[in-house]
Amino acid sequence: DEIDKGNFEHFMLKEIYEQPISIEDTFRGRIAMDHSKIFLGGISDVMPQLSQARRIIIAACGTSWHAGIVGEYLFEEFARIPVEVEYASEFRYRNPIINEDDVIIAISQSGETADTLAAIKMAKEHGATIIGICNVAGSSIPRETHAGVYTHAGVEIGVASTKAFTSQVTVLTMMALLLGKTKGHLKDSVYKELINELTQVPDKIRAILKAETDIKQIADTYKDANNALYLGRGFLFPVALEGALKLKEISYIHAEGYPAAEMKHGPIALIDENMPVFVLATKDKSYEKIVSNIQEVKARNGKVIAIVTEGDEVIKKMADHVIEVPDCHEAIAPLLTCVPLQFISYHIAVMRGCNVDQPRNLAKSVTVE
Ligand code: G6P
Repeated sequence: DEIDKGNFEHFMLKEIYEQPISIEDTFRGRIAMDHSKIFLGGISDVMPQLSQARRIIIAACGTSWHAGIVGEYLFEEFARIPVEVEYASEFRYRNPIINEDDVIIAISQSGETADTLAAIKMAKEHGATIIGICNVAGSSIPRETHAGVYTHAGVEIGVASTKAFTSQVTVLTMMALLLGKTKGHLKDSVYKELINELTQVPDKIRAILKAETDIKQIADTYKDANNALYLGRGFLFPVALEGALKLKEISYIHAEGYPAAEMKHGPIALIDENMPVFVLATKDKSYEKIVSNIQEVKARNGKVIAIVTEGDEVIKKMADHVIEVPDCHEAIAPLLTCVPLQFISYHIAVMRGCNVDQPRNLAKSVTVE
């Protein structure tokens, strides 16, 4: 029974633990057995428009908007299509320029978010092609789109989105790879290697889930913080945004996510011995730079909790705490690194006595403006 908490204390925790399965459900039937191909039947009719798109505009709200930024990095990296990620509420009201050769991708767990729905209706009137990435089958957004890919994450009850986010990112990864291949930007070998990496995500998440007890101890150390900062670069910048959103949504601690290099243009002024700074610091092309960002935080006595690649000895010596995730391609890292941050928020919120599944003032789906 999907709407039963089972042995878990909260839906959010159950949904965090479901991610190996929900991600498998997202790519089930969409990846060839030999990992040589991706099939996305729901968008096959609009592949000509997608592969010739002058640009892609992603419209979404909340956590889905963060998935959209991961999408931007993926589409630009692999498919070489310019992407803009828009808050649906801003996009719909600012007289945006929309052309017939634009493709709009609406990302929405519920498929009912009023602003996202209105944004695609408007873009449709301008003649753009509209694609949905939604979780709830038959909801309003998929009914308005020309094509789409369901995330198949299963019912998500916790107001703070977890498994829906990782399924959205999984769909975006598949779309970007398929498009990159179709447009000739991805060599067969790289395409196959990345598909392979994607199929390893569920097992890698299983390994991260085993660290819950250690992560809970870190949560205990910082549960009384008044503020927190989350830093990431590249593919992990949106994960920093999502980590901060998750913390503020359910624990009511003020948190901000920032591109690590932007720290020196503002948030660095806030850093002192009371400021926990969560740094996404897995091995990728900006590794050296993130290491210097960690040094900058430590030089101001900030507390660093770093999410690192398994076996990283360099950051272990600098950070106050490290949480290891399995090695992976940098484009896949958002799917792994978001999981420890979900645990951090969950446990801090529980320790502070907050209503994790039903945080104050928030709704699972915002169907009014
Ligand atoms: C609300 C929820 C968030 C969600 C956002 C967008 O704010 O609390 O968890 O990310 O709406 O919802 P959607 O269903 O469009 O993804």
